[in-house]
Amino acid sequence: MGRLQKILIPLLGLVLAFWFYSARENFKPEMLQGKRVIVTGASTGIGEQIAYHLARMGSHILITARTEAKLQKVVRRCLELGAASARYVSGTMEDMAFAQHVVSEAQASLGGLDMLILNHVGASYFGFFDGDVEHVRKLLEINFLSYVAMTTAALPMLKESEGSIVVVSSMAGKVGFPFTVPYSATKFALDGFFSSLRQEFSIQNINVSITLCILGFIDTDRAVRAAAEVLREVPAPRDECALEILKGAALRRRELYYRYSSTRLPLLLRDCAAELLDYLVRSRYRLPAAPGTPRPPL
Ligand SMILES: NC(=O)c1ccc[n+]([C@@H]2O[C@H](COP(=O)([O-])OP(=O)(O)OC[C@H]3O[C@@H](n4cnc5c(N)ncnc54)[C@H](OP(=O)(O)O)[C@@H]3O)[C@@H](O)[C@H]2O)c1
Repeated sequence: MGRLQKILIPLLGLVLAFWFYSARENFKPEMLQGKRVIVTGASTGIGEQIAYHLARMGSHILITARTEAKLQKVVRRCLELGAASARYVSGTMEDMAFAQHVVSEAQASLGGLDMLILNHVGASYFGFFDGDVEHVRKLLEINFLSYVAMTTAALPMLKESEGSIVVVSSMAGKVGFPFTVPYSATKFALDGFFSSLRQEFSIQNINVSITLCILGFIDTDRAVRAAAEVLREVPAPRDECALEILKGAALRRRELYYRYSSTRLPLLLRDCAAELLDYLVRSRYRLPAAPGTPRPPL
């Protein structure tokens, strides 16, 4: 009987896991057709690629970042690719009034909102923590507080549309990473805020999904400039990353891991072998960066 239990229980677990995953809905591009979407940090990098995928799927897109000339180019390309509509608002996410203004623009020009994609990231340094508290405060405002301000402003529209919030985070927001202390802190803050908010939505029967995206090393210009020489890892392609983010968002997943092998799998060690995981993280680096190492900002 004992032996039978030892075999039957894991087998039952496997059958249930297979049923659970195979019964899940598959992604179809039509899911995002006609949807009204804000993408922040869309002048370049992953955000730019998200905008292009949305355009191909026929969404209404509102993009934002600081550099107006780049935003104009992205909007033009989105229209060529088939966006239902594309527009931009330029400004800095250091200013919470600007973060709220972007949401008001969506209300005025799109008449509502189905998806809020929070992706922008402020410049930081790559090296040992230099003790600059003011830099940590500024980065928290850009990478965290503006996400909170936009979510708060967008919530009435998202409740009405039963829409989605997508938060672009990082492995550095799930496990301690050296050389990016201020950046990691802002990404951990996102997990705390949005995972708690998800719980409250569930208690209050608010049908707004929150997808937290845990990304590994991606081949955007900024990340490659900052880390390619020091990381023993080949960066994953940004356009594929952008598509995976949209799939996870459309399917209303709670968390998305890209690439799975370099993010989700190592994180399985976090609770049972935290020191081993820390060691594996450190071993990804080729050189120890010295304090003040002149590297391009992360
Ligand atoms: N690339 C990676 O390896 C990697 C890994 C893990 C997680 N991620 C996450 O993925 C997201 C996108 O990263 P990425 O590599 O695509 O970054 P990126 O290429 O540097 O793009 C960052 C975007 O944010 C905008 N931005 C910067 N400062 C801003 C400010 N003060 N106010 C408003 N917008 C601002 C930039 O445009 P302007 O300069 O024109 O304002 C740009 O559009 C980030 O949340 C990042 O943490 C990336």
